[in-house]
Amino acid sequence: MGKAIQFFSNLFSRAKRKAVLLGNKIPAHIAIIMDGNGRWAQKRALPRIAGHRTGAESLKSCVKACAEFGVKYLTVYAFSTENWRRPKEEVSFLMNLLSQTIDREIEELDKNKVRLRFLGRINELSQELQDKIDWAMKKTEKNKGLNLSVMLNYGGRAEIVDAVNEIVGRDGATKVREQDISAALYTKELPDPDLLVRTASEMRISNFLLWQIAYSELYVTDVLWPDFRREQLAEAIQAFGSRVRKYGKTKEQVS
Ligand code: FPP
Repeated sequence: MGKAIQFFSNLFSRAKRKAVLLGNKIPAHIAIIMDGNGRWAQKRALPRIAGHRTGAESLKSCVKACAEFGVKYLTVYAFSTENWRRPKEEVSFLMNLLSQTIDREIEELDKNKVRLRFLGRINELSQELQDKIDWAMKKTEKNKGLNLSVMLNYGGRAEIVDAVNEIVGRDGATKVREQDISAALYTKELPDPDLLVRTASEMRISNFLLWQIAYSELYVTDVLWPDFRREQLAEAIQAFGSRVRKYGKTKEQVS
């Protein structure tokens, strides 16, 4: 009996949340700094890798929720250019987790028309991982559903440096405009994020999408990434709905 009540109460709160979101502005592009895996594990006296493993489940839940809510782009920070400084065992666990997650999820992602991208200095990863990434990106490149971008060996400054070097390497380039830089970033095929979510309370950007988040709304939650699921994403979207985006204008001009 208790279970039945719980089931209907869950169903009701899901429906209520969906109804609230239906009347809401849905961000076209959500970017997420997935933080707090280590703290989540520590709180449970588990090794840090247990936090990463459960974090992969949170990502799956958010991918499904984005498709359900009508978000077109989801971009997540999986591994930064600075994360190589972590203990060797943790780095290799993260690389393996990534590779296994591709193997495990690719068919379902493809079936659900998700287009998968891996963006960053991919050429510095192991050849085996590069081959798998190339294969997964090609397999899903014609999909027209959610655009899921996994930022890997990614740094915002490195990305801008790579973009500028690409431009100055072109014949005859003498002057650089904003749109030239945007068009040379790893994210050239994506619109700028509307909403940047960071879990685990930290009020930092940590070298993520430095160029692209110029006008993004920021949402920081104390929920740790392994606990961040559909319901928490819905809360972030709800908060986004109450923001007024001014792009430098006055409140009166935009309302
Ligand atoms: C931050 O938590 C998390 C990371 C550096 C790795 C993100 C990876 C995942 C969520 C795994 C799933 C992703 C894929 C693409 C399979 P932290 O370790 O910095 O946490 P802490 O600040 O509490 O120590």
